[in-house]
Amino acid sequence: MNVNIITIDGPSGSGKGTLAARLAAHYQYHLLDSGAIYRLLGLSLSEHGLLEQLNDDIAKCVAIAEQLPIVFKSTEQGVVVLLNGIDVSAKIRTEEVGEYASKVAAIPELREAVLQRQRDFAQAPGLIADGRDMATIVFPEAQVKIYLTASAESRAARRVKQLQGMGLDVRISDILANIQARDKRDMERTVAPLKPAEDAYFIDSSDIGIDEVFNLMTSHIDAKLANN
Ligand code: DC
Repeated sequence: MNVNIITIDGPSGSGKGTLAARLAAHYQYHLLDSGAIYRLLGLSLSEHGLLEQLNDDIAKCVAIAEQLPIVFKSTEQGVVVLLNGIDVSAKIRTEEVGEYASKVAAIPELREAVLQRQRDFAQAPGLIADGRDMATIVFPEAQVKIYLTASAESRAARRVKQLQGMGLDVRISDILANIQARDKRDMERTVAPLKPAEDAYFIDSSDIGIDEVFNLMTSHIDAKLANN
């Protein structure tokens, strides 16, 4: 069966999540938010008290990762993420859990443990896969590969707006420092570092709005799929 796979990779705050959800609705494709898997795993390992000694207890951590219940439920309000039946959608989006995710994502054994789980999302008629290594590692055979980036400053400004919208009191300097630290860790890690695939279509969203990025993406995707 033919499954169209479209990968969207890039750093956090580039607008990937919003665009991936819009693309999935537009094409009526499935959606893989791979960052949410790492966030869910980070939360689960922290609840098991294993986050501080990931490398010492690696076998235990891998077992938890392999059995992690990955439950994403589509609702009219968006995707609800469950952990052991509890709605953790808001919790996994906090800066704190983002830090946990970045830590677990740097461990090769844990990436390996969730690799097949991610590939299982590729179901007909197609998949929009959002992450860091979707094009380079998880779906190298994808028909369309997009790399979406933006400057750290514009990503920090967007994140501050989003957090303020959630009623949180945040300082842009703290958010910018977090983003820069996380970028560095994601780009410099030895396993599956954040980098564009050689054949990726590159978009910088620093100075363009979400609708314009969406139009660039759909034009590119339509042209690519028509030539397939
Ligand atoms: O996209 P996000 O902010 O939800 O991702 C959370 C963390 O997970 C981030 O530090 C990078 C990591 N991640 C990854 O290493 N590989 C992916 N495919 C997706 C996310």
